[in-house]
Amino acid sequence: VKVLSVASEAVPLIKTGGLADVAGALPSAVAPHGVEMTTILPGYPAVMKALSRPRALHAWDSLLGEKARLVGGKIDGHPLLVVDAPAYFQRDGGPYVDSSGRDWADNWRRFAAFGRAAADLAGGAVKARSFNVLHAHDWQAAMALAYLRFAPPAGGKRIPSVMTIHNMAFQGHFGADLFPALGLPPEAWAMDGVEYHGGVGFLKAGLEAASMITTVSPTYAREIRTPEFGMGLEGLIVSRGDRVKGIVNGIDTAQWNPATDLQLSEAYGQLSKANGQLSLGKRVANKRALEAEFALDEDDGPLFIAITRLTWQKGIDVLLECIDHLVGLGGRLALLGSGDKAMENAFHAAAMRHPGKVGVRTGYDEGLSHRMQGGGDAILVPSRFEPCGLTQLYGLAYGCVPVVSRTGGLADTVIDANLAAVMGGVATGVQFDGVNYASLADAISRTVTLYGQKDVWRAMQRAGMKTDFSWSRSGKTYAGLYASLIAEDQ
Ligand code: ADP
Ligand code: GLC
Repeated sequence: VKVLSVASEAVPLIKTGGLADVAGALPSAVAPHGVEMTTILPGYPAVMKALSRPRALHAWDSLLGEKARLVGGKIDGHPLLVVDAPAYFQRDGGPYVDSSGRDWADNWRRFAAFGRAAADLAGGAVKARSFNVLHAHDWQAAMALAYLRFAPPAGGKRIPSVMTIHNMAFQGHFGADLFPALGLPPEAWAMDGVEYHGGVGFLKAGLEAASMITTVSPTYAREIRTPEFGMGLEGLIVSRGDRVKGIVNGIDTAQWNPATDLQLSEAYGQLSKANGQLSLGKRVANKRALEAEFALDEDDGPLFIAITRLTWQKGIDVLLECIDHLVGLGGRLALLGSGDKAMENAFHAAAMRHPGKVGVRTGYDEGLSHRMQGGGDAILVPSRFEPCGLTQLYGLAYGCVPVVSRTGGLADTVIDANLAAVMGGVATGVQFDGVNYASLADAISRTVTLYGQKDVWRAMQRAGMKTDFSWSRSGKTYAGLYASLIAEDQ
């Protein structure tokens, strides 16, 4: 089975969020089940630089108006294809925004062109490569499905497709005026095509065309059937019936393992031969190192962490309101975040107000994110919605107890420390309903109380660390899905 995975980011080459972790991990996750996955990425500067000896496999005189080449390489030992189109992708700034944080004005053309290239490949226009399934991630890749459906390459064929929603909040919605420039036939301008509320909807077009729609947790798959989470596409999701499925993300356990993580001062989490328990004793050295790194007071009270994009989705404004409460209970907070400038400033102000108790780092720092999971006691994830969420999974693996709102993947991956769960020894974290001051403050109070009960806390840490969130189960599920789509197509 040969799958073309279309993504606008993938570790270790380019990352702005969890999508990159997932797109980067999928090829290895499905490989044991007989699937060869080829990833196709846009040729951003970082991606082009990583190609050691780029080989041109195909050329377009005009990919939606610009010259482009398809070059081959490897990502993590798996096949990689890159759309080398300097006019679209060779620029400073991020994959989606310029250096000042504004969306690139031509994002519609950049990612339509990316989709066109992927559709050409999936349809068989490049003789050297053939695929049985097209798998696209998020709106930036979604047009691949629309092109394959409405305008396959000459002499090409349509293959089954999967459209994965990592975040319904980003839909790639543009004005109707650009429709002619997309190079689609007139019939694509239809309610079940690319038309969306009088404009062009990239994600919408992909969802209409997909043989199967997946999202990254079972709870989010249910939530997007409602207006609150579906963000306008709930009707479409409901109409696709059992063609919508939730498959929870895994984590890359080679990258995220406290027993082997070189970022940590002390490794921990090995199985002790003496008592058959996961070792936690050395964890405290990482806590001390983290306190030093954030200029926090050294003490044994609970150290909360947060690692996050600073946006409305993540409920970070509510966390800001709860800081005085958290510090009042004897807690400390270390936050690593980037995004909204006003929010960054507000956190810096909170750190000034609570010297030694609140530490803030802005920017993106992968190494620090590992050290925080290894030294923090509890990770706060108060998201208003969360399709899957990865930081709570890393927290579980590292014995950094997740405190999460009960939504999306957070609801599916954390077991709340209610009385029955604690008595049964299965609790792994704290959940709360509704992202507002009262509920988060209450969850923080509960966490501080649990932290004070040393045996209960240790049991929660160990239960989380023992839970298998590797890709093995979901890798098999994706492979099974591809196989069933191929069978159905025959
Ligand atoms: P989302 O994709 O919505 O941002 P996820 O929890 O799925 O949320 O994934 C976020 C990923 O980005 C995780 O790997 C997390 O560790 C990482 N991350 C987020 N913010 C930062 C940051 N400021 N520095 C380093 N890593 C970060
Ligand atoms: C999105 C979601 C996040 C999810 C990630 C990877 O960025 O916001 O919840 O974990 O995609 O699927």
